[in-house]
Amino acid sequence: MSQQHHHSAHEHHHHADDSHGPDEGLSQILDLDAEILEASLSAVHADIAALIDGPVRRILDLGAGTGTGTFGLLHHFADAHAVAVDGSSDMLEHLRRQAEGLGLADRTTTVHADLDEGVPELDLVDLAWASGSLHHLADPDRTLAQVAAAIRPGGLLAVVELTGHPRFLADDAPGAAAEAKAHELLAVDRTVDMPAMGSDWGARLARAGLVVELDRPIVVDLAPPLPDVAGAYAFAILTRIRGAVVERLGADLDDLDDLDRLLDGGPSDVRHRSDLHVRTQRQLLIARRPASR
Ligand SMILES: C[S@@+](CC[C@H](N)C(=O)[O-])C[C@H]1O[C@@H](n2cnc3c(N)ncnc32)[C@H](O)[C@@H]1O
Repeated sequence: MSQQHHHSAHEHHHHADDSHGPDEGLSQILDLDAEILEASLSAVHADIAALIDGPVRRILDLGAGTGTGTFGLLHHFADAHAVAVDGSSDMLEHLRRQAEGLGLADRTTTVHADLDEGVPELDLVDLAWASGSLHHLADPDRTLAQVAAAIRPGGLLAVVELTGHPRFLADDAPGAAAEAKAHELLAVDRTVDMPAMGSDWGARLARAGLVVELDRPIVVDLAPPLPDVAGAYAFAILTRIRGAVVERLGADLDDLDDLDRLLDGGPSDVRHRSDLHVRTQRQLLIARRPASR
């Protein structure tokens, strides 16, 4: 860690318990995700630009992770400053390093805070962004009400939520059954651990007093031949899925053998295959805080 990071990006401490701990696997996935989703996210930025009234000067990124949302929005909205909030100091550290590398450190402020304890009090923002973070929250409705209050009247909230985990193998490809089985197990796990995942975000935004103006899927469906980043992405995601399935569900060993062949460096390893697809789907919602009457 160099001194520079501290000089050019500021960190404010709120009461964050940092229970997330270091998670190299997740930061790697989030960075690869940024590459895989680049074109889709540009289209999302264009959707926001088409809906926003007035300039975008202040952006709030909720559960910012490694900064994919923050940096994409700062590139699109050239006059904006972003406040990136996350409960993990490791994520914020990673985000600040990236901000330095991109020359965006002086347009980025990081705030270490647990959103379950409240949205940090800041000046009103023109645009709030929450990608892949709301389903982690203990009470998304409570947080959304606070987020709505943090947006200027007429300003926007953009939400991106996963509707499933990325898939990589065609139905008849070697290992496809193991991938499918792992996803089945994961789906059970998800409903236990993160009940808000896959919920009706439109209804939740409306309950927070926001008016949904756009609700559409973001569909990524990449077919071979794909660049190496697809293999790295598949490897990172499947490794994480394997971890979840093994630790929490005690999956049966035959299924694991097949799954392991996708990760073992051999001929079926997803990093060395030419038949990989990348299929992932998210939901995008853009909602407005009504202008005061
Ligand atoms: C799946 S990542 C998404 C990161 C980023 N928004 C993106 O789209 O790449 C979810 C992020 O939310 C953060 N997070 C989860 N629960 C949180 C909470 N209660 N308070 C603050 N951040 C939280 C995690 O630390 C993680 O960085």
